[in-house]
Amino acid sequence: MKTTRLFEGKRLAILTGGGDTAALNASIEAIKCRAAVLGYKVYGILRGWKGLLGDGDVVDLTGKPYDGWYGGTALLSSRTNPFPTKNNPVNRVDQVLQNLKRYKIDVLVTIGGDDTNGAAKKLYEQEGIPVIGFPKTIDNDVRTRTFHEFDQRKYETSLCPGFPSAAINIAEFTAKLRTTAESHSRILVMEIMGRDAGWLTGSAMFGGAKISLIPEYEMTKENIERFYEKVKEMYQKCSKKYLIIAVAEGTKWYNEQTGKVERVCASSDVDEYGHHQLGGISGVIASEIKKKTGIDARSQIVGYYARSGECSIYDKRFCNVLSDKVLDLLLREEYGKMPVLTNVSTYKEIEEYNCSTIDMGQIENFPLPDYFYDKNEFQFNNIYDNFLGHMIERPKKRFFDVSFEKVMPTE
Ligand code: F6P
Repeated sequence: MKTTRLFEGKRLAILTGGGDTAALNASIEAIKCRAAVLGYKVYGILRGWKGLLGDGDVVDLTGKPYDGWYGGTALLSSRTNPFPTKNNPVNRVDQVLQNLKRYKIDVLVTIGGDDTNGAAKKLYEQEGIPVIGFPKTIDNDVRTRTFHEFDQRKYETSLCPGFPSAAINIAEFTAKLRTTAESHSRILVMEIMGRDAGWLTGSAMFGGAKISLIPEYEMTKENIERFYEKVKEMYQKCSKKYLIIAVAEGTKWYNEQTGKVERVCASSDVDEYGHHQLGGISGVIASEIKKKTGIDARSQIVGYYARSGECSIYDKRFCNVLSDKVLDLLLREEYGKMPVLTNVSTYKEIEEYNCSTIDMGQIENFPLPDYFYDKNEFQFNNIYDNFLGHMIERPKKRFFDVSFEKVMPTE
C-alpha cells in the first residue's frame, strides 16, 4: 500500500549565501533529510541568490547522498544581493520571484548570515514568500538571542553554526605557531577574520595568544601606547621570549598620517552588501611593534584557514538540532522565522528543547559585547573563556622546557 507523506508534491529549495563555513554542508544535509521525510522534493539553488536570477540555476537533491562532514558548500555561494543597494542600484527581486514560480518552489530555506537572511526577510515581509532562515557565519556576528550563564549571571551572546569549527581551527593553528615563534624569539601578530566583530579572535587565546585586539575596542593613540607597554611586559615575562598576539582583521588602529582611527583594507573593492575587503592590519601592527619596542615582530594572516576543512562534531550536532526546529516550522507552516540555540551548552547537551526560533525581522548584526573583553589587559576575559570552552577544547600542548648548560671555550 502506498502511503502519502504530508508534503508530497511540494518543493523545498535551499540556498547558501556569503562566506562559506565548515558547517554549511552539514546544515544542507540536515535540512534536506528532514524535508524529505515530510515528502518534499528538495532542490538546491546554486551560488546563493545568484541561482535565482536570469534562467535560474537549480539542482535536484532528492534521494541523493550528501556528505555533511565535508566543509564548504556543495551548493556554492556568492554575495549576490537581489535588492538594490548604493553599490548596485539594480532591483532584481522580480527575477527571483519569477524563478520561484517557474521552478514551483513552495518553501525557501536560506542559510546565511545577516546579509543573506536580511534579503530573505524582505522577500518574506514584502512579497509574502514562505521563507525559513538558517544561521551561519564564522564571524558569529548575527544576533541569535542565545544566553550564556556564568557565575550565576546571564549574558546575551550569539552562536551560529560554522563559528565553533572556525574557532577550533584558530585555536589549533595558534598552538602550532608557538614552535616557530619560540625558535626565533619573535612576536607573531596573527590576523583573524571576523569582519567588524571580535568573536572569532577570542579563540586564539585557547591556543596560547596572550594579547588580543578586536574591532569593538578602538586602538586610539593613547590605547596604542598602553598596548606597547603590555607587549613588552608579556614578552619579558615569557621564559622562552616569544609572544603571540591575535588581531581581528577589522581592528581600528590610529593612523599617524591621517590622524584617524581606521580599519585596514586589502583593496578598494566593495561587495553588493557594501562590505570592504579587509586585510593587512597585522602587517601594520607588527612593523609598529618592531619600531617602538625593538623586538622582532612578524605578521601572519590566517585568512581562509579559519573556515576551511571538515565540520566539527559540535557544529554537526548543532546543525542537526537546529534542523529539527526547521522540521517543526515546516510542519506548522510557520515562515519568516529562524531557529536558534536558547542557551550555550556543550555538544552533548544541545537538544531540540534547548532551541527556539526568532522572527527573521529580529535578525541584526551583533558585535562582541564588552562584558567578554578586558580592555586593561587587551585580552578576552574568563566569561568569554567559559563561553567558548563549551564548544572547543584547548589544543594539547607538548612542552620542551629543558635548559641547556652553557659551555665555555677551553684554552
Ligand atoms: O563573513 C565571513 C568572512 O570570512 C569574513 O570573516 C571575511 O571578512 C570575509 O568573509 C571574506 O570574504 P571573501 O570570501 O569574499 O574573501
